[in-house]
Amino acid sequence: MRVVLEGLTKRFGTVTAVNELDLEMRSGEFVALLGPSGCGKTTTLLMVAGLYRPTSGTIIFGDRRVDHLLPKDRGIGMVFQSYALYPHKTGCAKRRGAWRSTSFSIAGQGSSRADSSSASRSRAPS
Ligand SMILES: Nc1ncnc2c1ncn2[C@@H]1O[C@H](COP(=O)(O)OP(=O)(O)OP(=O)(O)O)[C@@H](O)[C@H]1O
Ligand SMILES: [Mg+2]
Repeated sequence: MRVVLEGLTKRFGTVTAVNELDLEMRSGEFVALLGPSGCGKTTTLLMVAGLYRPTSGTIIFGDRRVDHLLPKDRGIGMVFQSYALYPHKTGCAKRRGAWRSTSFSIAGQGSSRADSSSASRSRAPS
């Protein structure tokens, strides 16, 4: 599925975290955002996931505009980088948890248990 960001902007008061970002990611591409601390990488991903509402601009998944949709209605998942979310769990437990939550998300979209299990195993972080 292609993902297109057009003029994506996020301001926090007087701070402009993301300024008029245009980016097209085509289906099957592996994309990494690189840049100095504070340049807006996390803010961009949180807008794509739907956890931050853009100040302005457009987010398109496939042919569908999604920037007005709630995270649960966007059909994507996000795995946070910080392990501080589960400080009491071991690395193995976190991996199992990531696999379960990905599997749950895919299953929630109507896939069979076997399909969601196999798809999420291939997506779980190693
Ligand atoms: N919730 C917020 N409230 C106010 N300012 C914020 C908020 N989130 C981010 N910012 C500011 O927006 C700018 C971009 O932050 P962001 O976290 O997106 O950068 P980053 O590229 O992910 O940085 P890092 O490499 O350190 O993770 C920074 O100036 C940051 O201080
Ligand atoms: Mg960041």
